[in-house]
Amino acid sequence: MTAKEIRKSFLDFFASKQHHIVPSAPMVVKNDPTLMFTNAGMNQFKDIFLGNAPIKYPRIADSQKCLRVSGKHNDLEEVGHDTYHHTMFEMLGNWSFGDYFKEEAIAWAWEYLTEVLKLDKSRLYATIFEGDESEGLERDDEAATIWAKYLPVDRIINGNKKDNFWEMGDMGPCGPCSEIHIDLRSDEERAKKPGVELVNADHPQVVEIWNNVFMQFNRKADGSLEPLPAKCVDTGMGFERLCMAIQGKQSNYDTDVFQPLIKAIGKLANCQYGDDSKKDIAMRVITDHIRTIAFSITDGQLPSNAKAGYVIRRILRRAVRYGYTFLGQQKPFLCQLIPTLIDSMGEAYPELISQQSLVEKVIKEEEESFLRTLETGIRLLEKIINETKKEGKTELSGNNAFILYDTYGFPLDLTELILRENNMTVNAKEFDVEMQKQKERARNAAAIETGDWITIKEGESNFVGYDTTESEVEILRYRKVTQKKEDFFQLVLNPTPFYGEMGGQCGDAGTLSNDEETISIIDTKKENGLSIHLCKKLPKDVTTTFVAKVNEKRRIAIENNHTATHLLHESLREILGNHVEQKGSLVTENELRFDFSHFQKVSSE
Ligand code: ALA
Repeated sequence: MTAKEIRKSFLDFFASKQHHIVPSAPMVVKNDPTLMFTNAGMNQFKDIFLGNAPIKYPRIADSQKCLRVSGKHNDLEEVGHDTYHHTMFEMLGNWSFGDYFKEEAIAWAWEYLTEVLKLDKSRLYATIFEGDESEGLERDDEAATIWAKYLPVDRIINGNKKDNFWEMGDMGPCGPCSEIHIDLRSDEERAKKPGVELVNADHPQVVEIWNNVFMQFNRKADGSLEPLPAKCVDTGMGFERLCMAIQGKQSNYDTDVFQPLIKAIGKLANCQYGDDSKKDIAMRVITDHIRTIAFSITDGQLPSNAKAGYVIRRILRRAVRYGYTFLGQQKPFLCQLIPTLIDSMGEAYPELISQQSLVEKVIKEEEESFLRTLETGIRLLEKIINETKKEGKTELSGNNAFILYDTYGFPLDLTELILRENNMTVNAKEFDVEMQKQKERARNAAAIETGDWITIKEGESNFVGYDTTESEVEILRYRKVTQKKEDFFQLVLNPTPFYGEMGGQCGDAGTLSNDEETISIIDTKKENGLSIHLCKKLPKDVTTTFVAKVNEKRRIAIENNHTATHLLHESLREILGNHVEQKGSLVTENELRFDFSHFQKVSSE
């Protein structure tokens, strides 16, 4: 089967089991502060698991674009060096929200793999959660008993909390899981060493393909586990690995998902995949990264200097650098791979086709500017090399290497490569110390400690701010957050006239008062659909009624700037063309910023 046929067969199978098929959510996450990118199929259903959103369809299936390059799930460093990790990958998933549970989930996984796809049963293994005393959790005997209907007991393996208790992040939905692994080695190799010894042992041909999570808990900020309102199923199958298994390949990159890109790179760089291990790594890195970059741009995340945009810029630069160092690419080349990518993925993800020229132009601009930086860095490095030589030394200081890295985006291995050509080395220990210091600085700047919600009153928060800027309210819940050693409180009010920061428009500020006291609300944010009001202190009595009053003058100034944003957008479309799309914006009481897509610098005129 081709990759396209495999994707379709999965969705058809679960549709036949009464699952509602939904499109992939965007890979770039805009409204959840705990996440930059979608890292699992279940992300878009987080609120349903937690009971914060209603269950519309009790059974759902889809193919989700995922990116694992930051936070709890991060595979970036492995990518390219091995043959089965990716930054972006597709996750095939099926879900039950309070409907079926372990029995059906396992039965259908088995039916799909062995009857529809006809994978060899003797190559499959299942892992189940062995329990964990510190969490007060028992072994998942139920899953083991169900698996025993399909697999001999010696192919049902106990797994620890790290491998068999899946968590979305430091907080959020989680539960014991049962993974299906496949042994793709030759019969000869299988006879020599049983596959059971290689499960979860980083063997490139004995890999996990499908994870079935039995979602039962919410991990709270204090580390405790709270039962979810309903027992749910959350599964995720690595599409590229499944293709490898079905197409009888040894590496994800040998499947038709990646081969067209590998061939296109070979043509551009005049080399053949498989001839030289260093070039092979570079070709895998580029093949992997170009997908991430293109899909991020179509999902609205352009490379930039901050946050999610910076992650994408770093991935793009990683690809440029591998091309530059190992494939001799000194001119923009990533942008030339987009037509090939569209050939293989445009049908399933039409956003690639509709935004082709934008994607190509953005990537080309980024490549050009980074290649210039690389050249500046190389000149600076040559100067440092000469000075170091003059001093009679052959080792470059780690501090100098770090300046090259930090200011010129010059990774250590590139510095080392150039130094080697000059029979010189670098003090890598010193470099690591500098790197550690910088990570520390970044962590301290970003660290936010969030406490658990304390519920005062059950209920939903109703937004009334379109009609009024003042209303009588109650506090539904609150929690403490600490950032840069300062304590704040976040309140959920009902109703609320306060507009939460959304779509770039900053949140309302104002006051919360009763006869006793007046508290300033300094900002309002939107989190998973909820308006959250930020204050520096908590009212003395949180159970009484208050008058919540929006600073009206400020709100009107913000509204004016919001209107101006739309006028600017329309003017840009008239002057530069219809391709101009909003890519981000910031609207405050004093100013507006509008990010938009255009393929070159806008002239001053
Ligand atoms: N959410 C589960 C995973 O990502 C299925 O492995």
